[in-house]
Amino acid sequence: MAEQKQFVGQAEFAKGLEGVIACESTMGYVDGKEGKLIYRGYDIFELAEHSTFEETSYLLLFGKLPSQSELDDFKQKLVQQRAVPKEVINALKIVAKTAHPMASLRTGVSVLGAMDKNAEDESIENYTSIGISLIAKMATIAGAITRFRKGKKPVDPDPKLDHTANFLYMMNGQKPDDYTARVMDVSLILHADHGMNASTFSSMVVASSMSDMYSAITAGIASLKGSLHGGANEQVMHMLDEIGSVDKVDAWVDDAIATKKKLMGFGHRVYKAYDPRATILGEYSQKITEAHGRKDLYDMAKRMEDKVIAAYGERGIFPNVDFYSGTIYSAFGIETALFTPIFAVSRISGWAGRVIEYVTENRLFRPRAVYTGEMEAKYVPMAQR
Ligand code: ACO
Repeated sequence: MAEQKQFVGQAEFAKGLEGVIACESTMGYVDGKEGKLIYRGYDIFELAEHSTFEETSYLLLFGKLPSQSELDDFKQKLVQQRAVPKEVINALKIVAKTAHPMASLRTGVSVLGAMDKNAEDESIENYTSIGISLIAKMATIAGAITRFRKGKKPVDPDPKLDHTANFLYMMNGQKPDDYTARVMDVSLILHADHGMNASTFSSMVVASSMSDMYSAITAGIASLKGSLHGGANEQVMHMLDEIGSVDKVDAWVDDAIATKKKLMGFGHRVYKAYDPRATILGEYSQKITEAHGRKDLYDMAKRMEDKVIAAYGERGIFPNVDFYSGTIYSAFGIETALFTPIFAVSRISGWAGRVIEYVTENRLFRPRAVYTGEMEAKYVPMAQR
């Protein structure tokens, strides 16, 4: 727990807002001690086994599992919302080849907001319809970024494909087999929401000033980009690339521990037990890497996990969601720089759900700082400084 200090007798100071309660929510619950994750009452293991990303997104947005007709209607809306204006594609054409894909995604969503004449409508109905539109369109934007980075043209969405299969199709230009689409779908389910993490909180802070939904989501993307948050999945892959082979893991980890290097994909502000998402992704990683001839990635990761848990497990440092996801995406042939945009393509559902929930009974976020500066400085004219 971070250092706590009294603040003018009314509140406590917690660096990084650690442990601070900022709102009430029925969206989801993270039990960091037991390693449990719940969306709207449903355990993540159940959702990963039985649900789909579309259904989970509906659950997060509307607070209940849909009936068959509600789900059909929701999926239809997503299909109808996949196309993005040509101005967005033009902007991506300029930036996507060289910018970090998360910077391109942020730009794409920002242009999308600038093009939407309804962006300033503050009704909950409008926030909800923009949320649904962004769930659809962020996949299209991420697909287009992937293509531009390879010097190729974007692939038009295929209305016959479900959300995740279509997302993979727009990235790769090839329709995925059912198992590949299912594994990616599970990964999107697992990344969709996670309490008051930095990017969700960023979105909510922006929304709380009654800015607009696009600005809120753009802030979420900006925050997720960082290497201490969503960007860790990329760093894990760089780390595994640097290690190179399973026989080099032990020496690399020993050195990292001796030099107090931060091990990407390990540790979590809330989980002090094994992250349940890493349990599920670890199992898929083993199967998928083997099926795609990249078992070396899983073997390195697993060896690393065992070493790190032996050293740090009793301090509550275990693999987090970012540790195994990259091994799966790599086995699918996806470029490392695109891992965090994939995270965002999923997390949009949580951002949108939590923003809508918050603005429904909005209160501007406005914390304070403990002032540690001088109180009685005298202004010194320029000539005398
Ligand atoms: N490797 C090595 N040591 C670690 C790690 C790690 N990954 N994580 C925490 N520790 C150690 C710290 O060095 C610190 O040790 P000390 O008390 O001796 O100084 C102690 O554990 C507490 O660490 P903090 O960084 O203060 O804990 P915090 O709650 O801020 O940690 C965080 C959370 C930022 C995620 C951290 O674990 C980390 O940087 N992990 C690596 C990056 C990462 O994987 N991020 C993804 C998180 S999941 C997500 O955002 C989707």
